[in-house]
Amino acid sequence: MIKKAHLPQQFFFGAALSGPQTEGAWKQYGKLESVWDRWSQDDIDCFHNKVGSYVGNDMINRCEEDYQIFRSLGLTTARTSIQWTRLVDQNGALNRAGADLYHRMIATAKREGIDLFINLYHFDMPAYLLDRGGWENREVVEAFANYARLAFREFGHEVHCWFTFNEPIVEPENSYTKGLNIPFIRDFRRACAVQYHIALAHSLAAREFRLAKAAGLLQNDAKLGLVNNFAPPYTKSSPTDADLDAVRMVDGLHNRWWLDLVTRGSLPCDILDTLGKRGISLPIRPGDEELLSFGTVDWLGFNYYEPMRVQAPDNSIDDEGNPVFAKPYVWSKRKMNESRGWEIYPKGIYDFGMKIKRDYPGLEFFVSENGMGVENEDLFRDDEGLVQDDYRIAFIREHLFWIARAIDEGANCVGYHYWAVIDNWSWTNAFKNRYGIIGVDLAHNYERYEKKSAAWMRKLTATHVVE
Ligand code: BG6
Repeated sequence: MIKKAHLPQQFFFGAALSGPQTEGAWKQYGKLESVWDRWSQDDIDCFHNKVGSYVGNDMINRCEEDYQIFRSLGLTTARTSIQWTRLVDQNGALNRAGADLYHRMIATAKREGIDLFINLYHFDMPAYLLDRGGWENREVVEAFANYARLAFREFGHEVHCWFTFNEPIVEPENSYTKGLNIPFIRDFRRACAVQYHIALAHSLAAREFRLAKAAGLLQNDAKLGLVNNFAPPYTKSSPTDADLDAVRMVDGLHNRWWLDLVTRGSLPCDILDTLGKRGISLPIRPGDEELLSFGTVDWLGFNYYEPMRVQAPDNSIDDEGNPVFAKPYVWSKRKMNESRGWEIYPKGIYDFGMKIKRDYPGLEFFVSENGMGVENEDLFRDDEGLVQDDYRIAFIREHLFWIARAIDEGANCVGYHYWAVIDNWSWTNAFKNRYGIIGVDLAHNYERYEKKSAAWMRKLTATHVVE
């Protein structure tokens, strides 16, 4: 096992966050209803301990304190998202109250020495747009481009790192294929239309970014990126051709779809061919090829939680007539984070980093999310009440070892954002699994407290030595 690794001095450490999971104030500052707000009201039993999307972790009221905490940990950057439902009203015009709130938040981060990266979309579709078909409707793609235009114009001189989407693959997979999240669809054909339209929405927003830059509305060093939960795909040690084809297909839909888009401005041909052969046609219109070509970006965010392990499926269609390309493969040596049900495989971060280097040479990226959510952390408190989260320290350390190794071997990885430095609200799991290095005390007005990993993080950021 590696014992010590050095990360370059210019390598940055920061915090990964999102607006819907931190802000709260779900009805204030002119915010409209998101699909999460609607789901929380319609069926609160789906949310752990009946805690819906309303409060986040109260960061709106505590952002000054939170940015001070980040700084005290030695973090210099953070990514959060602004919310479409807060910035834009139902007629597509800027909501001044929401914009002013974000101006204050960005200014606070700056004052506290945190370079704030802004992402535009983190699963938070406005409910009124879902009523018009959501990502299945091309007009929603146009509405997103309008939102991006307003955001670039409003904050262009205050923010220099922008992202269009966080994990654009999650809605096609979870909301439209598996039916787990609102609008609970299980139809792969519709999921493909959603995935195509999100790719287009990203590209139109990227076009807006270039137009704003050319018009002098953005900072000279403004950069655009996209963040995805990329997952290295693995199969059995002695795979059949059918197993390898399963890997090709899941890799193509989950990873290469976005990597090709942001580096080549197009979608992977082999995947479009296979979809076509399986009778799936995408809602492509004349001129779309050119629109997708605007989708190239300056750098990439790589969220890493777990790998994909797949093998050939038993049947090529499921009971509902959806095509099936793969089935899960359970690796006999896997280690799990039981609270979340996710495999822990730190080497995956290295394997995928090297894949980026090999297949997309020159592409700069940073690890934009990586973290460990654990249930019932109070059980790990010592006599002084400190949460002894050694499991989290080990998790971060192992991943950083592999990042350092990838950098040594030429991967262009420039930073690491831990998810989520402060405990936050997590979708239907609400506050069940705690990710934070800093805890949030729900029983005492969301007060912040340090866990053992905070001291470890301070040392890491001061030395850039992982040990
Ligand atoms: C990422 C998302 O996939 O994982 C976050 O960008 C999310 O929004 C995080 O919270 C952890 O997942 P979960 O479901 O445990 O909150």
